[in-house]
Amino acid sequence: MTIESGSQQRPVSQELYIKLAAAFLVVVLAAWSFIFRGRKGSIPPGPFPLPIIGNLHMLGKLPHRTLASLSVKYGPLMSLRLGSTLTLVVSSSEMAREFLKTHDQLFASRAPSAAAKCLTYNCSGIEFAPYGAYWRQMRKLCVLQLLSPKRLEYFRFIREEEISAMIRCIVNSDDPRPLNINQTVSSLATAIICRMALSRKYSDQDLRSFSSMLRESFMLLGSFNIGDYIPYLDWMDLQGLNRRMKKIQKTQDYFLQKVIDERVAQNDPNVPRDLLDALLATSADTEFQLSPDSIKAVLFDMLLGGSDTAPPIIEWAMSEVLKNPLVLTKLQHELEHVVGFGRIVCETDLPRLVYLQAVVKETLRLYPQGPFLFRHLSAEARNVAGYEIPQNTSVLVNVWAIGRNPESWKNAESFQPERFMDGVGSEVDASGDQNLDWLPFGAGRRRCPGQQLGTLIAELGLAQLLHCFNWRLPLDDMNGQNQELDMIERFNGITFPRAHELFAIPTPRLECVADLK
Ligand code: HEM
Repeated sequence: MTIESGSQQRPVSQELYIKLAAAFLVVVLAAWSFIFRGRKGSIPPGPFPLPIIGNLHMLGKLPHRTLASLSVKYGPLMSLRLGSTLTLVVSSSEMAREFLKTHDQLFASRAPSAAAKCLTYNCSGIEFAPYGAYWRQMRKLCVLQLLSPKRLEYFRFIREEEISAMIRCIVNSDDPRPLNINQTVSSLATAIICRMALSRKYSDQDLRSFSSMLRESFMLLGSFNIGDYIPYLDWMDLQGLNRRMKKIQKTQDYFLQKVIDERVAQNDPNVPRDLLDALLATSADTEFQLSPDSIKAVLFDMLLGGSDTAPPIIEWAMSEVLKNPLVLTKLQHELEHVVGFGRIVCETDLPRLVYLQAVVKETLRLYPQGPFLFRHLSAEARNVAGYEIPQNTSVLVNVWAIGRNPESWKNAESFQPERFMDGVGSEVDASGDQNLDWLPFGAGRRRCPGQQLGTLIAELGLAQLLHCFNWRLPLDDMNGQNQELDMIERFNGITFPRAHELFAIPTPRLECVADLK
């Protein structure tokens, strides 16, 4: 009897608890919705956020695509709640101008993330440093030592030597398998930046593991880490990202410390000065002292910027070229006309390879190296575009959506390099200062300082591959026909690589390529 009445009692109390919990949830949701709607008039429109997670659940695997679709409904300036953080998503060139030009200084800081703190020594490099005197000084130093037109001209021999070495390596390879384009050009870009910044030449094996370390860092730096948005869940490391950061940071720190120790021990006045020397000299400077961690952070930023930026452009461009035989024919005709069959391409040929330049620009329009600019952050509350934007609001500029906006670009989805020669694209200013419809390097104070170097590597690498070789896709295992190339992308944090790496088969096109042996 006791047992029976007990079992009859339990459902009643359970039911009561469920009702109370449901009532509590309704009250929380109503209060949340009331607070949210109260604020709604003052901030840009956006999808309704859930309590705690906000809109994090909506991002999906390809956030640039999801956010582009949402902006069709909510407009080119949209608010999202990512956990507890207010994030604005910018999806048109007009809105980009508001944030990157009109209010450039206000939004010139970066939103610090756990990955940026962990991998860039508490944001003491350039990419993630808060806007201010330190950032300005470090950026200036890197430009002077590494990225200015004068220094780029000085380092021209390195780029030409490394690109010839890549061609030699392809010619001499006895591996019968199709060539992995990304892997080949990633090693090339990493070799170039290591020689330019550190005066160090690494083995192929080292370069391969080094580029994969940098790729993992790019992924971690651009990931939507739940811990960044819901700080009290950070300790749970739900996506396992914190664990990966710590692991990669150890490898990176070991490598950078070794490079510095070796240079300090070497102390040879006859070796030409490079970026590392300049940083070490600044660290001894009494006016502007640099900690060892800051030196490592700045070096890391340069290696990161130099390694995994040009390779995806070459890989996407090769993919488009292999899909568009007409573009390939036009490119190879231009190369024959400007360079001829007697030699390989030199960097000084590039200004006359105008169709090639248009191919690289068109590739960057459709496949920007990063689908979003690095997150910008508002330094104070301000009225922008008619909205009250609070202090510490994150801003995500969707470069991918802007490059494919049908209102700015005719046949926006199709690959048409000609538009950069005589269409709307020819008015696009590569400095990113006038027309923000083409924004792969950002604009304003935070825009990429490595644009010229990145473009040189992408243009020379692509030109050389297409001038020295003819290319075909491997046969499909299933039907023995030529493979149909897909153009599916993967969101890899900051970068935007192909979902399936491009493999292709080269056959020498120039007689002189055989002499490179
Ligand atoms: C074609 C290749 C490249 C592309 C497409 C590219 C693109 C970008 C983009 C989109 C940004 C963010 C701009 C913003 O947030 O507003 C950026 C920043 C940056 N890039 Fe590049 N980049 C390339 C090559 C390079 C190279 C070769 C280096 C250096 C060796 C470099 C170093 C940097 C640095 C240090 C920043 C941070 C600037 C700052 O916050 O002040 N980049 N880049």
